[in-house]
Amino acid sequence: MLNAVIGVGESSTLMGSYAVSLSEAVLRRRTRDAERAAKIESQLANKIKSEFISNMSHELRTPLNSVLGFSKLLSEHENRKLSDDDIVEYASLVQDAATHLLTVINNILDISKLHSGSFILDPSDVQIADSLDDCLMHFSRQITETGLNLVCNIANDLPILPGDEQKLRQTFTNLIGNAVKFTPSGGTIKIDAIHEPGGDIVVSIADTGVGMSEEEIRVALAPFGQVDASRSRWREGSGLGLPIAKALVDLHGGSIVIKSAKGQGTEVIVRLPTTQEDPEAI
Ligand SMILES: Nc1ncnc2c1ncn2[C@@H]1O[C@H](COP(=O)(O)OP(=O)(O)OP(=O)(O)O)[C@@H](O)[C@H]1O
Ligand SMILES: [Mg+2]
Repeated sequence: MLNAVIGVGESSTLMGSYAVSLSEAVLRRRTRDAERAAKIESQLANKIKSEFISNMSHELRTPLNSVLGFSKLLSEHENRKLSDDDIVEYASLVQDAATHLLTVINNILDISKLHSGSFILDPSDVQIADSLDDCLMHFSRQITETGLNLVCNIANDLPILPGDEQKLRQTFTNLIGNAVKFTPSGGTIKIDAIHEPGGDIVVSIADTGVGMSEEEIRVALAPFGQVDASRSRWREGSGLGLPIAKALVDLHGGSIVIKSAKGQGTEVIVRLPTTQEDPEAI
């Protein structure tokens, strides 16, 4: 009997120490896993950061080199005896590159602010139809010169939307700009805007251009993501327009959906709420 009692005591002590070492082992494993996850996360963050910096310096350096190169040619006019046509061409190339540089710098500042959550909207009452008209006016010459067809169905009963007019205009400019840029001559750009009864304003920007696969859409939504390297010369953009548009729409409490098929075209659907759940949110 005494032996038996001792036996039970011993086995419960053994069980106890086994449980303690098991829980210590589990704890050690969890700590190791957490450390490994934190290490991977920080490596990923560093990779993203260095990719961002390398893209950014490329985007800044390329137009800056054009500014330096062509302005140097202009400054050597005395020796080179440039023709009037050359002078005009070089000066306009300098202007092009400097304008592009400014756009890239503004876009980089925007995307950094949007990602760090420090972007502040300047709210007002926005008439989406007017914003769309202004954007289309901006592209009208390019649309005609490229030989594109434009079809517009903007409902005339669109309600006033609480939002940042300049940022919504920037959003539509980026999206319509893409439709124009990635649609070859003879193609069609179609803009629709409707008000869903009692609900959102839905703007669709569709084109019959080069289109994208599912994987390419994911790339396109990432900052600096350009799908087709052959089309991504600096003049054609830096791959920031779409992620900025998406982040700005998100900030308005809306959403962007992209439907696209390679070689057939793309439709970008922007959904914007006409009421804010939290009036302080905007
Ligand atoms: N409508 C579209 N049709 C086909 N491809 C598109 C379309 N919109 C975007 N893309 C693809 O997604 C990429 C990213 O678009 P985004 O607007 O971010 O950059 P970008 O137009 O190249 O440059 P940026 O807008 O900064 O001037 C584009 O380079 C293009 O490959
Ligand atoms: Mg773009």
